[in-house]
Amino acid sequence: MTTTRNDTGHLTTPHLAHHPFLVLGGTGKTGRRVVSRLRERGYAVRAASRNGTTRFDWADRSTWEPALEGVWAAYLVDSLTADAGELMTDFAKLAAQSGVERLVLLSHRDWVPAQGEEKLPCERAVRESGAEWTLLKPAWFAQNFDEEAFWLEQVLDGALVMSTGDGVEPFVDAEDIADVAVAALTEDGHAGESYELTGPRLLSLAQVAEEIARATGRPLVHRAVPAGEFTDYALGQGLPADFVGLLEMLFGWIAENRFATLADGVQRALGREPRDFAAYARATADSGIWEG
Ligand SMILES: NC(=O)c1ccc[n+]([C@@H]2O[C@H](COP(=O)([O-])OP(=O)(O)OC[C@H]3O[C@@H](n4cnc5c(N)ncnc54)[C@H](OP(=O)(O)O)[C@@H]3O)[C@@H](O)[C@H]2O)c1
Repeated sequence: MTTTRNDTGHLTTPHLAHHPFLVLGGTGKTGRRVVSRLRERGYAVRAASRNGTTRFDWADRSTWEPALEGVWAAYLVDSLTADAGELMTDFAKLAAQSGVERLVLLSHRDWVPAQGEEKLPCERAVRESGAEWTLLKPAWFAQNFDEEAFWLEQVLDGALVMSTGDGVEPFVDAEDIADVAVAALTEDGHAGESYELTGPRLLSLAQVAEEIARATGRPLVHRAVPAGEFTDYALGQGLPADFVGLLEMLFGWIAENRFATLADGVQRALGREPRDFAAYARATADSGIWEG
């Protein structure tokens, strides 16, 4: 195989130009960015999801094989359902059988085993697929504040209502996640790596509100509420009960400072520092989405 060395010293594989990349969650926060980066580099890409240009539905297995045809490397975003591990196990096996040689899985930072087993089966599925694999294990995405309708509305209403107390989280930029994903998909040297991806700073939700307010010039505060009050508020906003339960649990973990550590995955994968939340806030404010 002919390879070339890029700026970060990793080898790239030009022959990939002859194979389409498969990107699951191709309309989502990271998948969309992975698709556009690959296309900018001239690669053929299948942006796959229920509403993507390539139709792919975790709940409809007849969509799996056509999506995989001729693919050499795939970016995997799970189904976000209780059976995600089983589905990922079957899909990763099918991918390897179909000739996919490289899998990059979007996972999550490690959750304590008693409460957080759900991502592990997806990771295991990819590690045991027989294909070369890379795991991306990100913190909370900065982009939740403009690309998730519930958070966006809170920004527009001037108050982040979250039961996160004074806890801190190292929010990571989806642009960085996409850069790491593209590196892992297109370069040699990332196989068998598990990249924990965080931003460069730990931020409380009060600090997040300050950063966004500074960028927009409009007031925004964090209204720290007890868990029960958050549940009532979120249900009142029309969020589904199971999603509210999940959020309450995740917010509780932020309140406990469970993930209050920085990781070096962006530096290891890309040889540069991750983007700061303030840069995300400025760019998003400039896009006008927080003007309402
Ligand atoms: N958001 C965060 O802060 C965060 C932090 C750490 C880890 N993660 C992990 O990142 C992953 C993505 O989460 P996200 O919330 O950011 O979502 P997202 O990627 O923004 O959106 C979900 C994507 O999955 C697709 N999808 C949903 N149901 C599908 C189905 N049945 N079949 C095929 N595709 C389907 C959606 O497209 P269609 O609607 O077009 O199907 C969309 O492209 C999850 O595994 C999550 O645990 C997220």
